[in-house]
Amino acid sequence: MPKDTLTLTDNRTGKTYELPIENSTIRSMDLRQIKVSPDDFGMMAYDPAFMNTASCRSRVTFIDGEKGILRYRGYPIEELAEKSNFLETAYLILKGELPTRQQALEWENNITNHTMLHENIKKFMDGFHHDAHPMGILVSTVAAMSTFYPLGRNIHDPESRKRQIQRLIAKMPTLAAFAYRHSLGRPYAYPDNDLSYTENFLNMLFKATELKYKPDPALARALDVLFILHADHEQNCSANTMRSVGSSLTDPYSSVAAAAAALYGPLHGGANEQVLKMLAEIGSTDKIPSFIKSVKDGERKLMGFGHRVYKNYDPRAKILRKTAEEVFEVTERSPLLDIAIELERIALEDEYFVKRKLYPNVDFYSGIIYQAMGFPTSTFTVLFAIPRTAGWLAQWEEMLQDSEQKIARPRQVYLGHGQRSYIPTEERG
Ligand code: CMC
Repeated sequence: MPKDTLTLTDNRTGKTYELPIENSTIRSMDLRQIKVSPDDFGMMAYDPAFMNTASCRSRVTFIDGEKGILRYRGYPIEELAEKSNFLETAYLILKGELPTRQQALEWENNITNHTMLHENIKKFMDGFHHDAHPMGILVSTVAAMSTFYPLGRNIHDPESRKRQIQRLIAKMPTLAAFAYRHSLGRPYAYPDNDLSYTENFLNMLFKATELKYKPDPALARALDVLFILHADHEQNCSANTMRSVGSSLTDPYSSVAAAAAALYGPLHGGANEQVLKMLAEIGSTDKIPSFIKSVKDGERKLMGFGHRVYKNYDPRAKILRKTAEEVFEVTERSPLLDIAIELERIALEDEYFVKRKLYPNVDFYSGIIYQAMGFPTSTFTVLFAIPRTAGWLAQWEEMLQDSEQKIARPRQVYLGHGQRSYIPTEERG
């Protein structure tokens, strides 16, 4: 009769242990009973970089990396990208269900009414140097928001959490747009509440002297698709940071700032910026073979390729390749797209990439689209942070409501010195 247990034999002692299996996992704490002597601390699991450790149970996002499947709350990413918009998807991710018409109206209304920034946040931004990276400005100003909304620290009050979540989702585009305009030395453009979420973002970025900014509907829709694709991605580096920082019961502004800082790195959300630099450096399709050789020789990485979870084509990259073609119908076609397509073709036929199951990830095409839409490279990671805020906050809510979660605190395997006595300076060799 099959049993949902795992039997382990410790060959050091000959003892056998039976550990329960639930959802295909064993609890690491069940290993603690495995000891060689009564005063032994007990066995732990060693897993640098969390390669095979589930840190939580989640109902938000499902990924099957082998098959290239991504779903938010059960809905395939392809369907959401085709039929939904970002605000509706953010609602789904945060609340678990698609909104009714009434709920959608209320949600949109609440977000729209929170897009303004306190004038002092603007003054705070003015202090940054003109060439400050917009992501550095974003990380710092989100953190500073915790001082503007001290009630955000009432993290055990569901009503307060709801207000902070609305504020953060509403204000991230304004912060991002102001950070961008600051870097250009342009006056800030205030939100226009007649516009949709992505239209308004374009307005705050690109409005010049016209009285009313009219965003290109095709570009606003492309941005909506990009935002949907970036809204959540289960326990990635920044979501894990959000949960980890939030687990000490920090306010959501500080936790989002920490998550955004994790996103900033070139191996995570900073990769889209690196992809563009790489494509520009390659310059033309005839240079691709020598570039691939340098990757295979270990001199560099093919940015926008590879993923910890996907060992198949990232479904978001597939959608973006199509979105890129749609965007180029209204903008000038970027020569970088042809380099990217050829680079992908060559890499996917090359044994190095095939053997390691390295496929394009979401960052491979997103940068090319952003560039065609007029975004400077330095804003690409900011464009990732805006929609991902919905995911971070959904992960944070779930963590706070999970009775099994406590302050995150991994163990270590200590390999340093044993106890030794202090040596006075004059006696040290
Ligand atoms: N170019 C060349 N080789 C690669 C790449 C790449 N982009 N990615 C992985 N490899 C190789 C790696 O060198 C290793 O080879 P070997 O077995 O010979 O040592 C093997 O593939 C396995 O890679 P890994 O580094 O153990 O995989 P990981 O799960 O630790 O890293 C990753 C995942 C995304 C950090 C990595 O693939 C990478 O650095 N990619 C480039 C950066 C990038 O595009 N990041 C965006 C990720 S998707 C969006 C997001 O999550 O933010």
